[in-house]
Amino acid sequence: MSFVNMIEKKRYNGELTDEEIRFFVKGVTDGSIPDYQISALLMAIVLNGMNDREMTTLTLAMADSGERQDLSFCDDMPVDKHSTGGVGDKVTPLLLPLLATYGITSVKLSGRGLGFTGGTIDKFESIKGFNTSVPADDFPRLIRETGMVLSAQTPDLAPADKVLYSLRDVTGTVDSIPLIASSIMSKKIAGGAKALVLDVTCGSGAFMKTVDRAEELARAMISIGKLAGIKTVVVISDMDQPLGRTCGNTLEMQEVMETLTGKGAPDVIKVVCTIARELIKLAGKDNGMDDNEIYDDCVKRLTSGEALASFIKLVSSQGGEITMAGPSYVELPHEALRISAPSDGYVKSIRTDAIGSLSVLLGAGRATKTDTIDYGAGICFYAKVGDHVKRGDVLCSLCHGVSREVPEELLFDVMEKVYECYEFSDTPVEERDPIIKVLD
Ligand code: URA
Repeated sequence: MSFVNMIEKKRYNGELTDEEIRFFVKGVTDGSIPDYQISALLMAIVLNGMNDREMTTLTLAMADSGERQDLSFCDDMPVDKHSTGGVGDKVTPLLLPLLATYGITSVKLSGRGLGFTGGTIDKFESIKGFNTSVPADDFPRLIRETGMVLSAQTPDLAPADKVLYSLRDVTGTVDSIPLIASSIMSKKIAGGAKALVLDVTCGSGAFMKTVDRAEELARAMISIGKLAGIKTVVVISDMDQPLGRTCGNTLEMQEVMETLTGKGAPDVIKVVCTIARELIKLAGKDNGMDDNEIYDDCVKRLTSGEALASFIKLVSSQGGEITMAGPSYVELPHEALRISAPSDGYVKSIRTDAIGSLSVLLGAGRATKTDTIDYGAGICFYAKVGDHVKRGDVLCSLCHGVSREVPEELLFDVMEKVYECYEFSDTPVEERDPIIKVLD
């Protein structure tokens, strides 16, 4: 089969056959197709798209490029959740323990931070001793003990995606519905879930900048899920401002503890409980409750201490140091610089991708794969969109790890850039609803 012919076919908007797509994925996985040819085909896909059949074949071939996770040891239907990424997204550490209170089993294979977005694995690794590389042989024991496993994706889970993703990252080919949908769904299919809620984030801090694009991605993933026999629901959530009150690893885990002890931010509670409600329905654990009743029940369990007890179980079962007062952290945050409002007004918008990048610059993420993280670094948000501030009120603060020296110039440089991310209005601004739509 000539790979050049395949590139040309897609370049002139042709349809690739199933055989051609499988040949492509095999060549990506075994390294027989060089990066420059893979990149050329990726660009042709970005420009000309794929139809549903091509996208589904691509997804299934990617899912089968490595080992599929066998979850047959779970008595109940295991559920899964995936977010397309954001800033301040601490949904997973709250969702798993909440679902466990309903007897719902979750085997969550998560990733690290990517670009300006944070990653669940990095957040859990801010807890001393927490093991994020759980061998698959330990899954059944952990599921028996706590109903939850939180582990890093292994290299043999959809390895074709790893090759494609790292090439897409450096060839301007990330932003493509068929490529994003196949990347996410191949990992979910290989991960073995039978019911899935996808949190498609939308706004300046997300890959999908508009609701129309988010919906297009949602529809593509729902259609792949249907063909793959996975019950799939999509929640489109707002990422036009950071979620909750913090971004950064220890900061977000501290916010998780605040939420579990009844002091959480309303937007975090709403996103977690909406996703939980959909998963509870998919898992058939609704006990005859209607949507509102399930939601209210979730809020109660999340904030009253019930989910806290299962969070403590999750953390300690994977070696993390934790007591009722909270986890011990690898590094605590030091609030180094508070940034105040330049004038009176309403917060109109926050450029969330830029804020995420500034958090990375402070040390909360990696600019390159080999960078080390400062778990204490990040940003606390004191004013969100719609809030009224007076000149001098604290808008947000910059943090770094207590044991780390950070040059003042860096902090002041970040502060200047933070100001560029905020827009103010003299007239009242509506608060943003963190949930835009639910689609199934
Ligand atoms: N998340 C993924 O796993 N893949 C993408 O392509 C985009 C977001």
